[in-house]
Amino acid sequence: MTIDKKFLEKFVNVTSKAALASYNLVGKKDKIAADKAAVDSMRNELNNLDFKGRVVIGEGELDEAPMLYIGEKVGTGKGPEIDIAVDPLEGTNFAANNLPGALSVIAAAEKNNLFHAPETYMEKISCKVTEKGVIDLDYSVKKNIFNLSEYLNKKPKSITACVLDRPRHKNIIAELNNIGVNVKLISDGDVSGALLVTDDKYGVDIFLGTGGGPEGVLAAAALDTFNCNFQGRFLFITDKDKLRADKMGIKNLTKKYELNEIIKGDTIFCATGITSGDLVLGIKIRNNELITETLITHKSSGLKKIIKKVTNK
Ligand code: FBP
Repeated sequence: MTIDKKFLEKFVNVTSKAALASYNLVGKKDKIAADKAAVDSMRNELNNLDFKGRVVIGEGELDEAPMLYIGEKVGTGKGPEIDIAVDPLEGTNFAANNLPGALSVIAAAEKNNLFHAPETYMEKISCKVTEKGVIDLDYSVKKNIFNLSEYLNKKPKSITACVLDRPRHKNIIAELNNIGVNVKLISDGDVSGALLVTDDKYGVDIFLGTGGGPEGVLAAAALDTFNCNFQGRFLFITDKDKLRADKMGIKNLTKKYELNEIIKGDTIFCATGITSGDLVLGIKIRNNELITETLITHKSSGLKKIIKKVTNK
Protein backbone atom coordinates (compact mmCIF):
# COMPACT_ATOMS: atom_id res chain seq x y z
CA MET A 1 0.00 0.00 0.00
CA THR A 2 1.17 3.51 -0.74
CA ILE A 3 -0.12 7.01 -0.22
CA ASP A 4 -1.45 8.25 -3.54
CA LYS A 5 0.66 10.91 -5.26
CA LYS A 6 -2.36 13.20 -5.40
CA PHE A 7 -1.78 13.89 -1.70
CA LEU A 8 1.59 15.49 -2.43
CA GLU A 9 0.05 18.64 -3.87
CA LYS A 10 -2.66 18.62 -1.23
CA PHE A 11 -0.24 18.50 1.70
CA VAL A 12 2.02 21.12 0.11
CA ASN A 13 -1.06 23.29 -0.06
CA VAL A 14 -1.80 22.62 3.63
CA THR A 15 1.66 23.65 4.88
CA SER A 16 1.89 26.57 2.42
CA LYS A 17 -1.43 27.98 3.64
CA ALA A 18 -0.44 27.53 7.29
CA ALA A 19 2.89 29.25 6.58
CA LEU A 20 1.10 32.15 4.91
CA ALA A 21 -1.33 32.45 7.82
CA SER A 22 1.43 32.82 10.38
CA TYR A 23 3.52 34.99 8.07
CA ASN A 24 1.16 37.88 8.85
CA LEU A 25 2.33 37.63 12.47
CA VAL A 26 6.06 37.35 11.81
CA GLY A 27 8.03 39.79 13.95
CA LYS A 28 5.01 40.74 16.07
CA LYS A 29 6.58 39.25 19.22
CA ASP A 30 3.55 37.03 19.83
CA LYS A 31 4.43 33.39 19.36
CA ILE A 32 1.06 32.17 20.62
CA ALA A 33 -0.81 34.22 18.01
CA ALA A 34 1.59 33.13 15.25
CA ASP A 35 1.13 29.50 16.25
CA LYS A 36 -2.65 29.82 16.48
CA ALA A 37 -2.87 31.32 12.98
CA ALA A 38 -0.91 28.37 11.56
CA VAL A 39 -2.93 25.82 13.55
CA ASP A 40 -6.31 27.28 12.51
CA SER A 41 -5.33 27.35 8.87
CA MET A 42 -3.86 23.86 8.89
CA ARG A 43 -6.92 22.38 10.56
CA ASN A 44 -9.31 24.07 8.10
CA GLU A 45 -7.32 22.90 5.10
CA LEU A 46 -6.99 19.34 6.41
CA ASN A 47 -10.72 19.17 7.01
CA ASN A 48 -11.33 19.97 3.32
CA LEU A 49 -9.32 16.97 2.16
CA ASP A 50 -10.93 13.70 1.22
CA PHE A 51 -9.23 11.34 3.64
CA LYS A 52 -9.85 9.68 6.98
CA GLY A 53 -7.12 11.53 8.82
CA ARG A 54 -6.05 11.04 12.41
CA VAL A 55 -3.68 13.36 14.27
CA VAL A 56 -1.05 11.15 15.89
CA ILE A 57 1.29 14.00 16.76
CA GLY A 58 -0.23 17.41 17.17
CA GLU A 59 -0.60 20.37 19.43
CA GLY A 60 -0.96 18.28 22.60
CA GLU A 61 -3.47 16.14 24.45
CA LEU A 62 -7.17 17.04 24.14
CA ASP A 63 -7.18 18.72 27.57
CA GLU A 64 -4.29 21.01 26.51
CA ALA A 65 -5.10 21.72 22.88
CA PRO A 66 -8.54 22.36 21.41
CA MET A 67 -7.32 21.99 17.83
CA LEU A 68 -5.17 19.40 16.11
CA TYR A 69 -4.99 17.53 19.39
CA ILE A 70 -3.64 14.00 19.54
CA GLY A 71 -6.35 11.65 18.34
CA GLU A 72 -8.39 14.32 16.52
CA LYS A 73 -10.03 13.08 13.35
CA VAL A 74 -9.47 15.34 10.35
CA GLY A 75 -10.57 15.28 6.73
CA THR A 76 -13.97 14.65 5.19
CA GLY A 77 -13.98 11.00 6.26
CA LYS A 78 -14.00 9.86 2.62
CA GLY A 79 -10.85 8.25 1.29
CA PRO A 80 -7.78 6.47 2.68
CA GLU A 81 -6.94 6.14 6.36
CA ILE A 82 -3.88 8.30 6.97
CA ASP A 83 -2.13 9.18 10.23
CA ILE A 84 -0.54 12.60 10.41
CA ALA A 85 2.04 14.37 12.53
CA VAL A 86 1.73 18.13 12.44
CA ASP A 87 3.80 21.06 13.60
CA PRO A 88 1.93 23.99 12.04
CA LEU A 89 4.58 26.40 13.32
CA GLU A 90 7.97 24.87 14.05
CA GLY A 91 10.14 27.59 15.57
CA THR A 92 7.60 29.81 17.33
CA ASN A 93 10.43 32.08 18.55
CA PHE A 94 11.72 32.43 15.02
CA ALA A 95 8.34 33.60 13.75
CA ALA A 96 7.63 35.90 16.70
CA ASN A 97 11.02 37.60 16.36
CA ASN A 98 11.39 37.46 12.57
CA LEU A 99 14.43 35.20 12.81
CA PRO A 100 15.50 32.67 10.16
CA GLY A 101 14.13 29.15 10.15
CA ALA A 102 10.39 29.17 10.97
CA LEU A 103 8.60 26.34 9.17
CA SER A 104 5.20 24.77 8.83
CA VAL A 105 5.51 20.98 8.85
CA ILE A 106 3.41 17.89 8.27
CA ALA A 107 4.23 14.20 7.94
CA ALA A 108 1.75 11.57 6.81
CA ALA A 109 1.85 7.77 6.88
CA GLU A 110 -0.64 5.01 6.35
CA LYS A 111 -2.70 4.21 9.46
CA ASN A 112 -0.68 2.84 12.41
CA ASN A 113 2.67 3.43 10.71
CA LEU A 114 3.64 6.66 12.44
CA PHE A 115 4.95 6.42 15.98
CA HIS A 116 2.64 8.01 18.50
CA ALA A 117 5.35 10.08 20.22
CA PRO A 118 4.67 11.50 23.64
CA GLU A 119 5.20 15.21 24.27
CA THR A 120 8.52 14.68 26.00
CA TYR A 121 12.14 15.33 25.16
CA MET A 122 14.01 12.90 22.96
CA GLU A 123 17.71 12.25 22.60
CA LYS A 124 18.38 12.13 18.87
CA ILE A 125 21.05 11.47 16.35
CA SER A 126 20.87 11.75 12.57
CA CYS A 127 23.48 11.23 9.89
CA LYS A 128 23.85 9.92 6.36
CA VAL A 129 25.48 6.66 7.44
CA THR A 130 23.01 3.78 7.41
CA GLU A 131 25.47 0.93 8.07
CA LYS A 132 24.86 -0.54 11.50
CA GLY A 133 27.44 -0.01 14.23
CA VAL A 134 29.03 3.16 12.87
CA ILE A 135 26.93 5.85 14.56
CA ASP A 136 24.85 5.00 17.59
CA LEU A 137 23.02 6.86 20.35
CA ASP A 138 24.65 4.48 22.82
CA TYR A 139 28.18 5.49 21.83
CA SER A 140 30.08 8.40 23.35
CA VAL A 141 30.35 11.58 21.30
CA LYS A 142 34.03 10.76 20.77
CA LYS A 143 33.35 7.27 19.45
CA ASN A 144 30.67 8.52 17.06
CA ILE A 145 32.94 11.24 15.69
CA PHE A 146 35.96 8.94 15.30
CA ASN A 147 33.81 6.31 13.58
CA LEU A 148 32.30 8.96 11.31
CA SER A 149 35.74 10.36 10.56
CA GLU A 150 36.96 6.93 9.51
CA TYR A 151 33.82 6.17 7.54
CA LEU A 152 33.82 9.47 5.64
CA ASN A 153 37.59 9.51 5.37
CA LYS A 154 37.53 13.05 6.76
CA LYS A 155 39.55 14.38 9.68
CA PRO A 156 37.42 15.43 12.70
CA LYS A 157 38.32 19.03 11.95
CA SER A 158 36.58 18.65 8.59
CA ILE A 159 33.41 17.27 10.21
CA THR A 160 30.50 19.53 11.16
CA ALA A 161 28.03 18.62 13.89
CA CYS A 162 24.75 20.45 14.37
CA VAL A 163 23.56 20.85 17.98
CA LEU A 164 20.73 22.82 19.62
CA ASP A 165 22.32 25.58 21.69
CA ARG A 166 21.11 24.63 25.16
CA PRO A 167 22.83 24.39 28.56
CA ARG A 168 21.92 20.67 28.63
CA HIS A 169 24.32 20.18 25.70
CA LYS A 170 27.31 21.71 27.50
CA ASN A 171 29.18 18.40 27.68
CA ILE A 172 28.40 17.40 24.09
CA ILE A 173 29.59 20.77 22.78
CA ALA A 174 32.73 20.68 24.96
CA GLU A 175 33.55 17.19 23.70
CA LEU A 176 33.04 18.21 20.06
CA ASN A 177 35.28 21.24 20.60
CA ASN A 178 37.96 19.06 22.23
CA ILE A 179 38.05 16.78 19.23
CA GLY A 180 38.18 19.77 16.89
CA VAL A 181 34.83 19.21 15.18
CA ASN A 182 33.09 22.27 13.71
CA VAL A 183 29.97 22.92 15.73
CA LYS A 184 26.94 24.48 14.09
CA LEU A 185 24.79 25.71 16.95
CA ILE A 186 21.13 26.35 16.27
CA SER A 187 19.00 28.38 18.66
CA ASP A 188 15.77 26.47 17.88
CA GLY A 189 14.22 24.34 15.17
CA ASP A 190 15.64 20.86 15.38
CA VAL A 191 13.39 19.37 12.69
CA SER A 192 15.48 21.40 10.29
CA GLY A 193 18.67 20.69 12.28
CA ALA A 194 18.20 16.94 11.97
CA LEU A 195 17.55 17.28 8.23
CA LEU A 196 20.75 19.19 7.48
CA VAL A 197 22.56 15.85 7.11
CA THR A 198 20.46 14.98 4.05
CA ASP A 199 22.44 16.96 1.50
CA ASP A 200 26.10 17.96 1.23
CA LYS A 201 25.02 21.49 0.34
CA TYR A 202 24.11 22.06 4.02
CA GLY A 203 27.61 21.09 5.14
CA VAL A 204 26.44 19.11 8.20
CA ASP A 205 27.65 15.54 8.81
CA ILE A 206 25.85 14.69 12.03
CA PHE A 207 23.07 16.10 14.18
CA LEU A 208 22.95 15.19 17.86
CA GLY A 209 21.40 16.23 21.13
CA THR A 210 18.07 16.41 22.90
CA GLY A 211 14.99 18.18 21.54
CA GLY A 212 11.26 17.60 21.28
CA GLY A 213 10.10 14.01 20.73
CA PRO A 214 7.39 14.99 18.25
CA GLU A 215 9.97 16.96 16.23
CA GLY A 216 12.10 13.80 16.17
CA VAL A 217 9.32 11.80 14.57
CA LEU A 218 8.67 14.51 11.98
CA ALA A 219 12.34 14.62 11.01
CA ALA A 220 12.50 10.81 10.86
CA ALA A 221 9.71 10.79 8.25
CA ALA A 222 11.81 12.87 5.85
CA LEU A 223 15.11 11.19 6.75
CA ASP A 224 13.62 7.84 5.72
CA THR A 225 13.09 9.03 2.14
CA PHE A 226 16.57 10.56 2.06
CA ASN A 227 17.90 7.15 3.12
CA CYS A 228 19.57 8.70 6.14
CA ASN A 229 19.83 7.30 9.63
CA PHE A 230 17.97 8.40 12.74
CA GLN A 231 17.81 7.05 16.28
CA GLY A 232 15.79 8.48 19.15
CA ARG A 233 15.26 7.80 22.83
CA PHE A 234 12.44 9.49 24.73
CA LEU A 235 13.29 11.02 28.08
CA PHE A 236 10.61 10.46 30.68
CA ILE A 237 11.78 12.76 33.44
CA THR A 238 8.78 14.01 35.38
CA ASP A 239 5.96 11.94 36.93
CA LYS A 240 3.65 13.46 34.31
CA ASP A 241 5.97 12.16 31.55
CA LYS A 242 5.98 8.70 33.11
CA LEU A 243 2.21 8.67 33.40
CA ARG A 244 1.97 9.66 29.74
CA ALA A 245 4.26 6.80 28.75
CA ASP A 246 2.15 4.40 30.77
CA LYS A 247 -1.07 5.65 29.15
CA MET A 248 0.51 5.18 25.74
CA GLY A 249 1.57 1.65 26.55
CA ILE A 250 5.30 2.43 26.50
CA LYS A 251 6.77 -0.07 28.96
CA ASN A 252 10.47 0.31 28.34
CA LEU A 253 11.18 3.94 29.22
CA THR A 254 14.80 3.88 28.08
CA LYS A 255 14.31 2.14 24.74
CA LYS A 256 16.35 3.37 21.80
CA TYR A 257 14.16 3.59 18.70
CA GLU A 258 15.54 2.95 15.24
CA LEU A 259 14.14 4.91 12.31
CA ASN A 260 12.11 1.94 11.07
CA GLU A 261 10.42 1.64 14.47
CA ILE A 262 9.33 5.28 14.28
CA ILE A 263 8.25 5.37 10.65
CA LYS A 264 7.00 2.42 8.59
CA GLY A 265 5.72 2.08 5.05
CA ASP A 266 4.98 4.99 2.80
CA THR A 267 5.28 8.59 3.98
CA ILE A 268 4.85 12.13 2.76
CA PHE A 269 6.69 14.99 4.47
CA CYS A 270 6.24 18.70 3.73
CA ALA A 271 8.03 21.64 5.32
CA THR A 272 7.21 25.12 4.05
CA GLY A 273 9.43 28.05 4.97
CA ILE A 274 7.92 31.02 6.77
CA THR A 275 11.16 32.89 7.38
CA SER A 276 14.21 31.88 5.33
CA GLY A 277 16.39 29.29 7.00
CA ASP A 278 18.98 26.65 6.17
CA LEU A 279 16.45 24.21 4.75
CA VAL A 280 14.10 26.33 2.64
CA LEU A 281 13.48 29.97 1.81
CA GLY A 282 10.78 31.86 3.61
CA ILE A 283 7.78 33.56 2.07
CA LYS A 284 8.55 36.18 -0.57
CA ILE A 285 6.15 38.85 -1.77
CA ARG A 286 6.41 39.87 -5.42
CA ASN A 287 3.85 42.39 -6.70
CA ASN A 288 0.57 40.66 -5.98
CA GLU A 289 2.08 37.24 -5.52
CA LEU A 290 3.15 35.28 -2.48
CA ILE A 291 5.84 32.71 -3.14
CA THR A 292 6.41 29.79 -0.78
CA GLU A 293 9.12 27.16 -0.82
CA THR A 294 8.42 23.64 0.43
CA LEU A 295 10.69 20.68 0.95
CA ILE A 296 8.66 17.63 0.02
CA THR A 297 9.47 13.94 0.30
CA HIS A 298 7.47 10.86 -0.72
CA LYS A 299 8.96 7.53 0.25
CA SER A 300 7.30 5.23 -2.31
CA SER A 301 8.13 7.37 -5.33
CA GLY A 302 11.53 8.42 -3.98
CA LEU A 303 10.57 12.05 -4.47
CA LYS A 304 12.64 14.55 -2.50
CA LYS A 305 12.74 18.09 -3.73
CA ILE A 306 12.11 21.72 -2.97
CA ILE A 307 9.19 23.21 -4.83
CA LYS A 308 7.98 26.78 -5.19
CA LYS A 309 4.32 27.67 -5.09
CA VAL A 310 2.87 30.99 -6.16
CA THR A 311 -0.39 32.25 -4.66
CA ASN A 312 -2.20 35.47 -5.46
CA LYS A 313 -2.43 37.92 -2.61
P1 FBP B 1 8.49 25.46 19.14
O1 FBP B 1 8.29 25.78 17.72
O2 FBP B 1 7.37 24.66 19.71
O3 FBP B 1 8.80 26.70 19.92
O4 FBP B 1 9.77 24.47 19.23
C1 FBP B 1 11.04 24.89 18.83
C2 FBP B 1 12.10 23.89 19.27
O5 FBP B 1 13.38 24.48 19.07
C3 FBP B 1 12.05 22.54 18.57
O6 FBP B 1 12.55 22.55 17.26
C4 FBP B 1 12.86 21.69 19.51
O7 FBP B 1 12.61 20.32 19.34
C5 FBP B 1 12.41 22.20 20.85
O8 FBP B 1 11.96 23.56 20.65
C6 FBP B 1 13.47 22.19 21.90
O9 FBP B 1 12.89 22.46 23.12
P2 FBP B 1 13.54 23.45 24.21
O10 FBP B 1 13.40 24.85 23.67
O11 FBP B 1 12.72 23.21 25.42
O12 FBP B 1 14.96 23.07 24.35
